[in-house]
Amino acid sequence: MKVTVVSRSGREVVKGGLELNETATVADLQHAIHKRIKKLYPSRQRLTLPLPPGTKGRPVVLHHQKSLIHYCDGNLDNLTIVFKDLGPQVSYRTLFFFEYLGPLILYPLFYYFPVYRYFGYNGERAIHPVQTYTLYYWCFHYFKRIMETFFVHRFSHSTSPLSNVFRNCAYYWTFGSYIAYYVNHPLYTPVSNLQARIGFGFGVICQLSNFYCHILLRNLRSPAGNGGYQIPSGFLFNLVTCANYTTEIYQWLGFNVATQTVAGYIFLVVATSIMTNWALAKHRRLKKLFDGREGRPKYPRRWVILPPFL
Ligand SMILES: NC(=O)c1ccc[n+]([C@@H]2O[C@H](COP(=O)([O-])OP(=O)(O)OC[C@H]3O[C@@H](n4cnc5c(N)ncnc54)[C@H](OP(=O)(O)O)[C@@H]3O)[C@@H](O)[C@H]2O)c1
Repeated sequence: MKVTVVSRSGREVVKGGLELNETATVADLQHAIHKRIKKLYPSRQRLTLPLPPGTKGRPVVLHHQKSLIHYCDGNLDNLTIVFKDLGPQVSYRTLFFFEYLGPLILYPLFYYFPVYRYFGYNGERAIHPVQTYTLYYWCFHYFKRIMETFFVHRFSHSTSPLSNVFRNCAYYWTFGSYIAYYVNHPLYTPVSNLQARIGFGFGVICQLSNFYCHILLRNLRSPAGNGGYQIPSGFLFNLVTCANYTTEIYQWLGFNVATQTVAGYIFLVVATSIMTNWALAKHRRLKKLFDGREGRPKYPRRWVILPPFL
């Protein structure tokens, strides 16, 4: 079978096309492209079917496990594929590791080292107990996230564009330093003991619940699975589609009740709006996948992220 690989503008990407046998899969095609053009390793390649002339909409994306014949539409001699270079990729684990490593390292610098001298505060710095508990709480949170990245999550996409590393690190590292600066500041005024206990107590319960939600999500996929989506159920998932985001948001609320800084509340608002957008998209996807037609289960009625509001 001859496979012609063209760009979206119609230019031939692999000169002269590729000759593959009829049992070849999309993954074989990706490897054949990589063999001819060294920089285009498989995860950089997005392969789609050409849209019929004059039509608009989303093209069919080729799945790497499927055989090429599946996309031939009767013509087994010649197949034209549209190629898009997704740019340099990194694994999701690398992306998450670097974005969480920043806050885990930067926060303790503000607690342990005399950084405030560089901001013009030369006097002695008295450390309040709440600042110490905040350090433990913060480090536990980001350590947990790194551990979950490597040992809990089963990602559907193996890679992400390299540019996301810079974008996500800028978000987490900047907010981490911003909050650390104010919570550890020599002029920081702690909240009452009772308020700190309520905030941290609630926050720890939410962090543990968030961990349990991630275990439930992990169990929706088998280790060698193809990354498909299932209806999450059990614990808070019986009520909320994105219970992992709900518990994440509430644990930051607990953190802010205990520490009470403007920086922390700004982060809470930004993180909530990001997770709400993602939750709406995930809820829509699950409702579409599980529409109750042709034997498919129907997605149950649930809150999206923040009951009783959404
Ligand atoms: N503070 C913040 O700004 C912020 C923002 C975002 C996330 N977070 C935290 O980071 C955690 C991970 O974030 P995330 O966005 O990667 O979480 P996520 O996508 O909701 O889920 C975590 C893992 O479970 C999988 N999964 C989700 N729904 C599934 C379903 N219905 N069936 C099968 N597998 C499913 C996901 O697969 P896919 O690989 O297919 O997605 C992913 O591998 C969050 O839960 C939250 O605690 C914090």
